Amino acid sequence: MSNIKYVGKNLFIEKLSVAKIAKKNTTPFYLYSENQIKENYVKFFNTFKKIKPLVCFAAKSNSNLSILKSLGKLGAGTDVVSIGELLKALKAGIKANKIVFSGVGKTEEELKIAINKKILLINCESESEAKIINKLAKKANKSVSIGFRLNPDIDAKTHKKISTGKANNKFGISIKNFSIFLNEIKKLKNIKLEALSVHIGSQILSDVPYNKVLTILSKLIKNLDLNLKYIDLGGGFGINYSKKDKPINLKKYSNLVHSFSKKLNCKIIFEPGRSIVGNAGILVSKIQYIKNATNKKFIILNAGMNDFMRPALYDSHHEIIPITKNKKKIKGIIEFVGPICESTCKFGTYKNYQKISENDFVAIANVGAYGSSLSSNYNTRPLIAEILVNKNKFKFIRNKQNLLKLLST
Ligand SMILES: Cc1ncc(COP(=O)(O)O)c(C=O)c1O
Repeated sequence: MSNIKYVGKNLFIEKLSVAKIAKKNTTPFYLYSENQIKENYVKFFNTFKKIKPLVCFAAKSNSNLSILKSLGKLGAGTDVVSIGELLKALKAGIKANKIVFSGVGKTEEELKIAINKKILLINCESESEAKIINKLAKKANKSVSIGFRLNPDIDAKTHKKISTGKANNKFGISIKNFSIFLNEIKKLKNIKLEALSVHIGSQILSDVPYNKVLTILSKLIKNLDLNLKYIDLGGGFGINYSKKDKPINLKKYSNLVHSFSKKLNCKIIFEPGRSIVGNAGILVSKIQYIKNATNKKFIILNAGMNDFMRPALYDSHHEIIPITKNKKKIKGIIEFVGPICESTCKFGTYKNYQKISENDFVAIANVGAYGSSLSSNYNTRPLIAEILVNKNKFKFIRNKQNLLKLLST
């Protein structure tokens, strides 16, 4: 059941009217439903209940401290890709033994901290990285658990900019190179190969590529006679951004993962991000101006591509919904754009949209994942506020950045 929906003509988030929050606070701001995040996590975990996976929430999708804390309380671990995310996860109370560290370009500095903090797994993405970890571990007189991220050369059938498991993507190491390098890994005495990991892309709406990954992993583990403690199957589970998107059938996949993990007798790790927070957030924005152009009207919002980057970066589609509905229509085409000095600062085009006026509020939907975390100070604009709703209460989980902070450099 969605926690963000219309009650009559007004958009509600949990028990609060979005219009009321918008009228009281400076727009634009991100607005999240805590209950929706929790429901998504519990639903995901329960789909795989039989295998009791470790669900490491991908912090890159939304690294707000309060959200990490909230998920941590439900038992989630964290998948991090930088030392900033790692330290934030620890600050949020996530235990080090529930943190996995991915990324193709981890620095020595980052690896040193990860080793010191004794996180569950460093998911290594190259031969060179494995050697560096071994060197650092030796210096610290430690034995470090690592996973190796494989690149299975699988087409996840998603947007090319968020595909990560094809041979021409920079992520992981090919099956062939891993097989060759395995003997060398065994000689590195200060690392223990305890896991294999894969993450083939994001916003994946079919179980077919996931099933292919399981087949490839099973074969590889058998051929190389590997004895592993963990298999990290990554994230990437898609959500419904539009009515055309059909949800992925996770039930079927979970049955396959169950028999896979039983056969190998290893713990399964997942790294979902988008499917946990994506539909839990909206971006509330005010209509600054409406401008007539030759063949359309520009609806100029006070939110820009620096606040919400996905449409400009990936041509992604996000519904823009009024926070108060009416039955009147605007004739012709309208295009929602933002104030940033880039032609790509635009959010969507509509025909026969309901009547809207300057100073009205609209919400960009499904922005909980890769919204705030991708935002920037472009055009010297402060980062906007983030607000979390819990039933009939809301609280700021990030204040709008102080503009003066941006003026010092
Ligand atoms: C290594 C890794 N794990 C997990 C994720 C999370 O993916 P998603 O948010 O699609 O679930 C990503 C995102 O790209 C990733 O790179």
